[in-house]
Amino acid sequence: MAFSPQFLDELRHRVGIVDVVSRRVRLTKRGREHLGLCPFHKEKTPSFTVNEEKGFYHCFGCGAHGSAIDFVMNTDNLSFPEAVERLAHDAGMEVPADSPEERARAQEQKTLFDVMDKARAIFVRNLRLPEGRGALDYLRGRGLDDATIEEFGLGFAVESRGALKGLLARAGVAESQMIATGLVIKPEDDSRGTPRSTYDRFRRRVIFPILDARGRVIAFGGRILGDGEPKYLNSPDTPLFHKGRVLYGLSQAAPAARSGETLIVTEGYMDVIALHRGGFKAAVAPLGTALTEDQLGILWRLSREPVLCFDGDAAGARAARRAAERALPLLKPGLGLRFAALPAGEDPDSLLEAEGAAALKRHIEAAVPLSDMLWGMVTRGQAAKTPEERSFFQMKLEDYARLIGDSMVRGHFIKAFRDRIWARAGTRPFEAGSAAVPPGAADRARSGASSRTREVLNRREAILLAVLLTHPGLYDMIGERLGKIGFSAPELDKLRQEALKTLAQAPDLDSAGLQHQLRECGYSETLDSLLSPKVYEHAFFARPTVDDETARQGWEETYNLYHRKDLRAEIEEAKAGLSGDLTAEAMERFRALKAQEHQVQDFDG
Ligand code: UTP
Ligand code: MN
Repeated sequence: MAFSPQFLDELRHRVGIVDVVSRRVRLTKRGREHLGLCPFHKEKTPSFTVNEEKGFYHCFGCGAHGSAIDFVMNTDNLSFPEAVERLAHDAGMEVPADSPEERARAQEQKTLFDVMDKARAIFVRNLRLPEGRGALDYLRGRGLDDATIEEFGLGFAVESRGALKGLLARAGVAESQMIATGLVIKPEDDSRGTPRSTYDRFRRRVIFPILDARGRVIAFGGRILGDGEPKYLNSPDTPLFHKGRVLYGLSQAAPAARSGETLIVTEGYMDVIALHRGGFKAAVAPLGTALTEDQLGILWRLSREPVLCFDGDAAGARAARRAAERALPLLKPGLGLRFAALPAGEDPDSLLEAEGAAALKRHIEAAVPLSDMLWGMVTRGQAAKTPEERSFFQMKLEDYARLIGDSMVRGHFIKAFRDRIWARAGTRPFEAGSAAVPPGAADRARSGASSRTREVLNRREAILLAVLLTHPGLYDMIGERLGKIGFSAPELDKLRQEALKTLAQAPDLDSAGLQHQLRECGYSETLDSLLSPKVYEHAFFARPTVDDETARQGWEETYNLYHRKDLRAEIEEAKAGLSGDLTAEAMERFRALKAQEHQVQDFDG
């Protein structure tokens, strides 16, 4: 339903956003703003602000932003009209009666729904007639029992040009309505301008009713019995049915998805039905076309991360890639897609038949997130060994990332891609921080520090590295973070890179083996000064005799101290900059820093 701009204005005016948000978030007044803990991401210090005058909320932590209507949509998982109705109701406002045209259209729709329902009853009945015997056998041959056939309302269109038309006419349906619903085809007039007679669209096909979210029949899909072309025939777009806005199976899948079942998107009618039978109750399919933006929107209202489980063939892989690309501009923090890969030649239906529900479940659980999907699309399983290859991958990956509309999500994707490229390279990634932090910012903060601070930082860097050298078994847990720190002493920096690279290639090396290799690369002197009583004095846990777990705890504490020092300074600086200059860039930088701070805080727990 469309709401008039006047009505929406009035609604925004009448419902105070602070009121709406306060029902969910404890707010405290701070100047013109209200401040609280963001409901859209985990945080310990408030960065979620609400501005009553301007009528919007904004989170400096995660970038969530919107009006009271957006807030209700996002926290209660409602569609736009649902949110509007809820707010209007709460504010005691009447949702205005539709215009006369609206009312006429609603009336027409109502009659068309009626026509569709009559047609469905006819198709269902046909399946139990002698003419429907072949279709019933076909469905049973494909493993469907009567309960499933009934649950999905499957039916049969008999082999006749006028059977449905005749029965509908007898039930009082006008020919114009049969045409409007697409049940009957009206051919073009012949060359002399004489109208040709209309005829049934579906003939000798198994019928799959397509329902809207409320369970009303809005279209049909018809499968040929056995082989033939086209395999499936669908209703055309009508006043009730817009192919790109509908998902097959939605009305059954939605309650299951809301109660926490994994939302699975497949390609075909039969896949949805087979999944349902196999216990995967939240399964849907688009109708033979690539996933549209509307369909992605519907999916994301039901689940933060629907799983795409397309056919294990070239077409299925292409459909998955297209869905990935189409999702990027629409991504929001916390939303995503996952991609399940089926064995070659299988679709969910055939896999369930051949290997059972447990096998399919394993594939669903192994589904990879969107970022991995993009990584795979670019690298195609090739390892990038040279700077040339790595830069090419990075460029391609960042081309994808730039399609992401939401700046925070975009930043995280770019950062994850860069980290991954560098992790593969086994060397140091860019400066401590995310893509949005100007390179060198951390260096600048540090070069301004006093010589005393510098000494402490240098010592911490030495400790962090020493622990890895004496306890290389910790590589998996600390290697990535160690790789991201902006080391200030060039010699230690080189040693760190060499050590990380060596361990990336030979993760099973012990401390002696690692040191041996590093000495061979010419680091004897640096090693001797690093693995010395002077360092051990400050950090007993770096000693080779200490067990891994103790070493790890010591490392974590040092890391937090080290990392926090310059981060705090930078956050203060960015905040100071922010009050004067509210540019997108400054905000971006602040957000990126805050996000890092949260990461550091997570290690406290
Ligand atoms: P599939 O051919 O994979 O469907 O096409 P399926 O459900 O697995 O078919 P069978 O019955 O098991 O062989 C996937 C979807 O593409 C659309 C239909 O929506 C179908 O479910 N499609 C396919 C068409 O619209 N027309 C066609 O000719 C073929
Ligand atoms: Mn299939």
